[in-house]
Amino acid sequence: MVLTATKTAPADNSQGALDKLVSATNDSMQKVNDLIISRADSHVEIVPELARYLIDAGGKRLRPMLTLAAAAMFGGANGNEIRFAGAVEFMHNATLLHDDVVDESDMRRGKPAARKVWGNQASVLVGDFLLGQAFLMMVEANDIEALGVLSRAAAVIAEGEVFQLSKAKDLNTSADDYFQVIRAKTATLFEAATEVGAMAGGANAAERRTLGDYGLALGRAFQLIDDVLDYGGVAGTLGKNTGDDLREGKMTLPVILALQSADDDERALIAQGLGNADADADMLAGIIAIMEKYGALQQSLEEAERAVASAHASLEQLPESEMRALLAGVADFCLARAY
Ligand code: IPE
Ligand code: IPE
Ligand code: MG
Ligand code: MG
Repeated sequence: MVLTATKTAPADNSQGALDKLVSATNDSMQKVNDLIISRADSHVEIVPELARYLIDAGGKRLRPMLTLAAAAMFGGANGNEIRFAGAVEFMHNATLLHDDVVDESDMRRGKPAARKVWGNQASVLVGDFLLGQAFLMMVEANDIEALGVLSRAAAVIAEGEVFQLSKAKDLNTSADDYFQVIRAKTATLFEAATEVGAMAGGANAAERRTLGDYGLALGRAFQLIDDVLDYGGVAGTLGKNTGDDLREGKMTLPVILALQSADDDERALIAQGLGNADADADMLAGIIAIMEKYGALQQSLEEAERAVASAHASLEQLPESEMRALLAGVADFCLARAY
């Protein structure tokens, strides 16, 4: 990839951190997978067909594993962690179905996006179905506070996507606007995932907040890296096309920072590429060259590094444990994706 190593190399335990999370949550994740497969069922054939197409493609299942790990950290998992993890993954999958329609994306999880196979209408409606099923799982947990956390997250995610839409191709979008967007559309779900996990594990109010803060910082880092990879990543590894953010006119941090330093000609080239569905590889390369000239990708990475440091700082408020080390490793993993 085009990025060079930054002064702060990813911490040592990033290697295999995701694998460790997978094995630490393996037994519970099997229950979560059984639950989501059973709840994706419907007598209306197209519903399970489309839902299973996305679910069976996998994805990292990062958010439900975080819920399970957060619950395990406090020892007293009460069974609700399975319901919350299922709900969180369904919320995530619902937003992906909707997001690919809004973003007109063609690839997801290494396959043609569901909307390319069944069309936009079915994708939106099955997304709604999954969201409804997510709420049912939350209600079954019979925890009104956790229901509040997850319901708020569902509203904030949608709000964030609308805010992002309203800023598309807007060259005056500020870095603050961008941070507001990623907090809402991405970090809020990570925050809710870890917070309700901690609740299911029996955490007290302060511990619950600490886990929520960890999730929020982790989600911020995750989206920053995702946005850097859209300009510097490899489509095959990502499972989605690179350059999509430019073609969609999405005002991500690399573009915002490049625009802040660009001269008139460079600004014109970026403006020409933003929201231009026909932006070709040459145009993309020209814009990436501007980003590199002004260190925009590098600065975005450094912002992600700061978010990871903040995730670590939250964890350090809790007593040392195997689970704490594992969650710290997950934050390093998010960063390591960019290298
Ligand atoms: C994709 O999330 C959406 C973003 C917040 C960037 P993931 O990268 O976690 O997607 P899957 O679930 O692994 O496919
Ligand atoms: C991800 O938004 C956040 C949500 C799905 C709500 P993006 O549009 O940046 O994510 P990708 O790149 O499509 O995965
Ligand atoms: Mg989007
Ligand atoms: Mg998208």
